[in-house]
Amino acid sequence: MKIIRAKDYDAMSRKAANIISAQVILKPDCVLGLATGGTPVGTYKQLIEWYNKGDVDFSEVTTVNLDEYRGLPRENEQSYWSFMHHNLFDHVNIDPNRVHLPDGTNLDAEAECRHYDEVIRQLGGVDLQLLGIGGDGHIGFNEPGPAFDLGTHCVDLTESTIEANKRFFEKKEDVPRQAYTMGIKTIMQARKVLLVANGAGKAEIVKKAFFGPVTPEVPASILQMHPDFVLVGDEDALALI
Ligand code: PGA
Repeated sequence: MKIIRAKDYDAMSRKAANIISAQVILKPDCVLGLATGGTPVGTYKQLIEWYNKGDVDFSEVTTVNLDEYRGLPRENEQSYWSFMHHNLFDHVNIDPNRVHLPDGTNLDAEAECRHYDEVIRQLGGVDLQLLGIGGDGHIGFNEPGPAFDLGTHCVDLTESTIEANKRFFEKKEDVPRQAYTMGIKTIMQARKVLLVANGAGKAEIVKKAFFGPVTPEVPASILQMHPDFVLVGDEDALALI
C-alpha cells in the first residue's frame, strides 16, 4: 500500500489525475475502472483540463464503471451513466462504444451481473480502478457484511448510503433502493487500485480501513492485501494516520 498525502482537495485531485493520465500515456488502450460520488469530480475536471491542453488522449481508452442504480434509466439525471457523461465523457474524446456501466433497466439482476462480469473478462480485466470510500467503508456499493468473494451483484442499499446519497435527489424517497455493483473480487482483480479520500469526515474510516483489521465489516480494508494499491488523500482525510 502506498499513501500519497495532498495539501487539499485540489492537490488530491491533481495527484489522482496524474496517476490516471500516466496510465493512459503508458498504455493508450488501457481499461479504466471509474467511480462516481463527490470525491472523484475534481479528478475528472483535472483530466478534462489536461485533455484540452493536448496532454492526454482518451481515444483508445475503454471504461467500466463500478456501479449503477437498479431501475434508473440512463437518461435519468441521477443515473451514474448521466453522472459520468456530465463529469467526464462529454468533455473528452472517449469513444462512446467503449464506455460501460451496468444497465440499471435490466431488472433481471442475475443476467445483468453475469453479463457485466463477462464484459470485464472479455476486455482482459481492469488496468486501473479508481475508487472513493463511503463513511462505512464501502467501495462501489459493497456495503459492510457480505463476503469478499463476490463478482458483480445486486445489493440493497443500506440506510446510511441512502441517507448519504439523498443530497443528489429531490427527496429521500427518490433514492433507488438497489444497485448493481462490481464485487470486491472484481475490484481486487484490477491490476492497480487508486482510492481518493478527502475531508475530515473520512478520517475515521481511512484509519479503520487501512490501519485496522482486514474484515468484510469494513469492505475497503481488503485493499491492504492488494499488490498495487495507492491511497491519495488530503490532509484532513489522512489526519488520523
Ligand atoms: P463521496 O462518496 O465521494 O461522495 O464521498 C464516496 C462513496 O460513497 O464511495
